[in-house]
Amino acid sequence: MASGKYRACVVGASGVTGGELLRLLLNHPGIELACATSREFKGEYIFRVHPNLRGRTNLTFSDSTIDAILKKEVDVVFLALPPHGQSIEWVPKLYEAGLTVIDLSADFRLKDPNAYVEWYGWEKPHPYPDLLKKAVYGLPELHREELRNAKLIAVPGCMQPQP
Ligand SMILES: NC(=O)c1ccc[n+]([C@@H]2O[C@H](COP(=O)([O-])OP(=O)(O)OC[C@H]3O[C@@H](n4cnc5c(N)ncnc54)[C@H](OP(=O)(O)O)[C@@H]3O)[C@@H](O)[C@H]2O)c1
Repeated sequence: MASGKYRACVVGASGVTGGELLRLLLNHPGIELACATSREFKGEYIFRVHPNLRGRTNLTFSDSTIDAILKKEVDVVFLALPPHGQSIEWVPKLYEAGLTVIDLSADFRLKDPNAYVEWYGWEKPHPYPDLLKKAVYGLPELHREELRNAKLIAVPGCMQPQP
């Protein structure tokens, strides 16, 4: 946080949620957008994929690998990867590297490892039960104090009532 701002990276930045996240981060006074990844659009200007961001940033999409992100010396990584089961490949490594991770998927929302079999159809229980314990559900109305210092945040999703 050398500049007094948190350096942030968005993984999956060419997607629907990633684009909205970029808009919010570029407007945030406490954030410096350090990288935005896309495999398909690597090297392209972000505004070519998200025209609403033209004039807001001249950043280009970068490599979607953990090594490339670590080289950017970021403080926080947002994961906007497809639902569900992709973030689980990323979270343990980023967390171990000491970064704050904010995951928009469901991969760390539930505390019970067996619940992933029941609710998300996973073949096996969640393989990182210790990380599930550390993840804070990102609903400020319920967890405001824990969220202040959380290193792993599982963002709530668009919950639909069961018919
Ligand atoms: N919390 C909420 O309110 C909320 C709302 C909507 C969605 N979501 C969640 O946000 C996440 C993203 O949803 P979305 O609708 O924005 O998805 P999306 O439009 O399909 O975008 C997914 C992004 O991930 C990248 N990607 C795909 N597979 C990848 C892989 N294996 N490795 C690295 N990058 C990969 C894609 O770009 P490239 O293929 O170019 O790399 C793309 O930029 C999902 O987990 C969804 O459940 C949350």
